[in-house]
Amino acid sequence: MSHPGLFITFEGIDGAGKSSHIEGLAAAFRTQGRAVTVSREPGGTPLAEKLRDMVLSDPMDALTEALLIFAARRDHLCNVIEPALARGEVVLCDRFTDATFAYQGAGRGFDLGVLSTLERMVQTGTAPKADLMREPDLTVWFDVAPEVAAARLAGARIPDRFEAQPIEFFRRVAQGYADRAAAAPQRFARLDAAQDRHRVWQQLTSVFVRKGWLAIMVAAQKGPQ
Ligand code: TYD
Repeated sequence: MSHPGLFITFEGIDGAGKSSHIEGLAAAFRTQGRAVTVSREPGGTPLAEKLRDMVLSDPMDALTEALLIFAARRDHLCNVIEPALARGEVVLCDRFTDATFAYQGAGRGFDLGVLSTLERMVQTGTAPKADLMREPDLTVWFDVAPEVAAARLAGARIPDRFEAQPIEFFRRVAQGYADRAAAAPQRFARLDAAQDRHRVWQQLTSVFVRKGWLAIMVAAQKGPQ
C-alpha cells in the first residue's frame, strides 16, 4: 500500500528529552510497515553536518549563524527530506526551522523578519509543487521549564555553544517556541515534557493515534528503552 510522505519535526529547549523518543517512534512506524528516515538539524547530509560542527563550536555573528543554519537546511531538504517524502516515507527530524526562530530569533534577538525571508527562500522550490513552501505536517513540541531542562543536562556532557548559555537565554528560547506554536496551532502538538519518560511517551503516541497515523496496539508496545 502506498502512503503519502509525512514530515514530522521535534522541538524543545536543550534537555527537554525529545531525542530519546524519536527512535521509539521510528520503531513504531516500522512495525506498521512504514519506511522511516530519521534525521536532525543542523545536519543530516555530509555538507550540513560540517556546517553543524561550525555552528556548534565556532564563534560567529548572528547573521553568519543564521545563514549557515539555513544553508544546511537547504542541503538537507534537497538531498534527504524531499526524496524521502517523494518515496512516501515518514521523515522524523530532530529540530527544524522553529528552532531557528526560537534560538537565533528569540534567544539571540536576531531579526525575525530576516528569518521569515530566509525560511521562505530556503523552503520554497524543493517540493514537487514549485511554489509550495515546505513545512512540517506536524511539529511535536516538548515543553519544559528551563530549570527542569538545566537540571537534566547538568554534568551530562561537555556543553556546546548553545547548551553553555545561561538560563535566561533558555527562557527566551522557550518563549520563542510558545510564540511559534501560538502562530500555527494546527501544526503544533504540545507535550508536557516535565513528566517522566513513560508518560511523555504516552502523550506522544496518543497524538499520533488521534491523527490516525499509529495503531493503538503498536503505540502501546513500543516505548523508550
Ligand atoms: P541538539 O539538537 O540538542 O542536538 P544534541 O542533542 O546532539 O545536542 O543540538 C543542536 C543545537 O543547535 C541546539 O542547542 C539548538 C541549536 N540550533 C539552533 O540554534 N538553531 C537551529 O535552527 C537548530 C536546528 C538548532
